Amino acid sequence: MNNGASSRDRAHMRRKLLAWYDRNRRDLPWRRTKDPYRVWLSEMMLQQTQVATVIPYYQRFTAAFPDVRALAAAPLENVLKLWAGLGYYARARHMHAAARAVVAEFGGDFPASVEELRRLPGIGPYSAAAVASIAFGVQAAVVDGNVARVLARLHAVREVVSTAKGKALIQRRADELIPPRRCGDFNQALMELGATVCLPGAAARCPQCPLRTHCSAQAAGLVEKLPRKRARTTVSTETHAVAAIHRAGRWLVVQRDQRGLWGGLWELPTAVVNGATPRAAAAGLVERFVGAAPRSAKAFCDLERLLSHRRIRFVGFRFDLEHRPGGARTSPARKKGKEKARWLTLVQLRAVGISNAMKVVLSALAAADAASRGGRRRRSARRAGPAASATSR
Ligand code: ADE
Repeated sequence: MNNGASSRDRAHMRRKLLAWYDRNRRDLPWRRTKDPYRVWLSEMMLQQTQVATVIPYYQRFTAAFPDVRALAAAPLENVLKLWAGLGYYARARHMHAAARAVVAEFGGDFPASVEELRRLPGIGPYSAAAVASIAFGVQAAVVDGNVARVLARLHAVREVVSTAKGKALIQRRADELIPPRRCGDFNQALMELGATVCLPGAAARCPQCPLRTHCSAQAAGLVEKLPRKRARTTVSTETHAVAAIHRAGRWLVVQRDQRGLWGGLWELPTAVVNGATPRAAAAGLVERFVGAAPRSAKAFCDLERLLSHRRIRFVGFRFDLEHRPGGARTSPARKKGKEKARWLTLVQLRAVGISNAMKVVLSALAAADAASRGGRRRRSARRAGPAASATSR
């Protein structure tokens, strides 16, 4: 392995990379500001999420909460609603808590040091270095997946980059390379190079790279082989039963526990299937939430969603309850423990915070609902005869 670069080499690399960044940087909304609140928001959103996905969320979020005080003053539910679909919801809960801490402990001004930033909820070494360098010009090196790839190639690091040893090695290389000035730009330049030129595997665009003459992987013909990754682990499938409980045009929705996957978001009642059949598990949800033994269940979806570390199969059943005038809205569902429940129309459901996975389940429900109403209309039109069918439109 290469033992890093000489200080002259490093000076050349910094100059070339910054000049390349000045010419090639994408014009992203969070790059037009050094406001620590916006820099922090963008960095939180960009964790595990593509730039193109983040842009509209960032714009809606900053329109709703233009500064840290506005975010701190908002109910968590409104924050989750604007986050819905972005995934990794703990980020939104942490951000809300961090905004409150910035207001309570720092009078609404973000602290500038890596150490103080790290004490805020949800801010790890990566985000602290990113905010400190971009917003405050602190000489703190940022290493994300893109930066790790660039540095692993530049220095031909053969260590698996996700191990503790590999991470420490890459961080050391990053710490050596970051210049004393333009630190935020330099960090973003490395990220940008990884995102647009030093792409994974054979997609790497070495001829366009400003650092190609310094790149040890390029010299050794190792670009496609680096960085080395851990062997893939297989993703197991978990089955979730979904109960679409319907009464008088409304559907029962419940709020997930604040902790864990999709914490605080709303959903049709859902249970992990363990031992029972999905149908029995869904029927169990009806008993649990409305206290009634369901009479019949109609299957409406059986689909899979691949999350980052697991695959979830959603098997959905629809249960139609009898309409009790006045009942559906005033006595929504029997609350078990602290579970929150509401009866909403499909249109109202789109306005509360739901996960992307639940959006797909709801689309299947809406399609099945439309198909069954179409079928009922056709059957009643056939029973009434052609004349009635013509006038019923
Ligand atoms: N990914 C993480 N931080 C980023 C930034 N500031 N610009 C572009 N992509 C990023």
